[in-house]
Amino acid sequence: MNDFEWFRDHHTENIERMFAAVGDLYAEFWNDFFHFAIFDQPDDSWDDAFLRTHRFYAGALGIGPGGTALELACGRGGFANFLARETGAEVLGIDLSRAQLRRARRHKQPNLQFLHHDIMAVHELDQTFDAVVLMDADIYLPDKRLAIERISRTMNPGARFLLIAWCKQEGLNSLQEEVVLHPFMRYWGAPSLESASGYNKHFAAAGLRIVDQIDLNDKVARNWETGYRRAIKAAQELSTAKAASYAWKSLRQGKESLRLIKEQFPAALYIKAAFDAGFLRYTYLLAEKEGQALH
Ligand SMILES: C[S@@+](CC[C@H](N)C(=O)[O-])C[C@H]1O[C@@H](n2cnc3c(N)ncnc32)[C@H](O)[C@@H]1O
Repeated sequence: MNDFEWFRDHHTENIERMFAAVGDLYAEFWNDFFHFAIFDQPDDSWDDAFLRTHRFYAGALGIGPGGTALELACGRGGFANFLARETGAEVLGIDLSRAQLRRARRHKQPNLQFLHHDIMAVHELDQTFDAVVLMDADIYLPDKRLAIERISRTMNPGARFLLIAWCKQEGLNSLQEEVVLHPFMRYWGAPSLESASGYNKHFAAAGLRIVDQIDLNDKVARNWETGYRRAIKAAQELSTAKAASYAWKSLRQGKESLRLIKEQFPAALYIKAAFDAGFLRYTYLLAEKEGQALH
């Protein structure tokens, strides 16, 4: 069994292990969320760009007080918290990583809940929603088509689904995928990447009509650049004390943990290469469930 087959066939174990190991590292060098800010102006501040990005996404979901929203792979809960506060809707965030959820649960609002749950089993939730969002986690899904079909089953007629996806460029040959995309996928435990046209097919098969699709690569370039520079800086600042704290963490979380932490550095370099080559496309896909909205 190769690495990618293992990630696919053991996705729950893979995700729990991966985010227990690297969650704190990313919080230290990134934020309480792992997705990217859209920069419309070159001199935008990070805070302004994130605020505008989050408002854009919340607006696209089209929910308000009395509505229900589901954030899939909510991670540390930063966006679910924003959504609950800004829209007044009842928001549920689900994630497969207990380590991520421990952080998410520090956000407290009466209309915000978090649950340990697998996207692949999302249809088993005893609830349906007016809006569903999934950001920066599709690469981990072991079966993208099945995931979209099950997500669609949780949506009320007329409900919106916003997917912020890490797509592979259309028409890459297998050598290009192997040389440029496979290294970071291997370091990040990603079984496969889908193309935007692949998602279009999965959406259509699941009764989801595409409302809008935007390739955001140019507008998120600063995020990749910054991620790369932070990885370089972190490598330069690696001290014996830091190494000892990571090693201690690895003792508590299993011997794989230190390896996973170390692998984040080459992953950041390869991911920048995948972006610079244009092989990785940060894609906004907004879809609507067929049928008449009930409210
Ligand atoms: C890169 S983080 C993104 C987190 C969040 N969406 C954000 O934008 O901040 C990926 C998240 O996906 C979660 N994840 C991956 N596969 C999952 C699955 N099958 N079900 C639920 N969560 C999953 C991980 O635990 C992790 O928290």
